[in-house]
Amino acid sequence: MNRITIAIDGYSSCGKSTLAKQLAKKLGYSYIDSGAMYRAVALWCLENNAIEKGVPDNGKIISSLDNIKIEFHFHPEIQSSQTYLNGRNIEKEIRGMAVSEIVSKISSIKEVRQKMIALQRKFGEDKGVVMDGRDIGSVVFPNAELKLFMTADPAIRAKRRYDELKAKGTEVSLEEIVENLRLRDHEDTTRKENPLIQAADAVVLDNSNLTPEEQFEIALRLANEPITLSSN
Ligand code: DC
Repeated sequence: MNRITIAIDGYSSCGKSTLAKQLAKKLGYSYIDSGAMYRAVALWCLENNAIEKGVPDNGKIISSLDNIKIEFHFHPEIQSSQTYLNGRNIEKEIRGMAVSEIVSKISSIKEVRQKMIALQRKFGEDKGVVMDGRDIGSVVFPNAELKLFMTADPAIRAKRRYDELKAKGTEVSLEEIVENLRLRDHEDTTRKENPLIQAADAVVLDNSNLTPEEQFEIALRLANEPITLSSN
């Protein structure tokens, strides 16, 4: 059976990664969380004094890009792919509010995007990959066989994110999350470099009223359609 590329784009906290992981597991594909790559760069910036009062030092960041090594390693014991920065597992740190608050600014730096996009294409060169992000169907893999564009009601997205962070023991208020999502949506959709847009050939998946199982069924059906077509 032919292996395909599945691009999943959409707003923050729309459940993209949940769906991407489910699809990758079911199809035996690799899963790449492109947002984690921008988060890893943001963490590097926080740890290396490349951000002053919330403002990134673009010159320092750009000249340091070759020192920022990002990898994903699958951990079979937890059945999950973990993000590594210069050899260190940073999966937990990159999900906290400090990184969330700065990552949109970091991801709007042209040179950072160029480097991440090149890496993402490398990760996906053998197909059989599910990648989620903001510009995967529009820029990274414009020829992906399946493109999904996910969306959901902002209040539902904020509540889901809040529950997720609370479950992990993160101290945060619902108001902070609402504000962070609002800002990130704004920055992601209005930035100059590869803003979040729906690719013309993407299938829109509004999961406001769908359970993860229902959403998975729909996406799996779509994923199997191009496989059937391309293997004929
Ligand atoms: O999916 P996420 O929330 O973990 O992404 C973190 C940030 O990275 C988000 O604010 C937008 C940015 N991002 C991006 O610009 N392009 C991508 N392909 C993925 C994420």
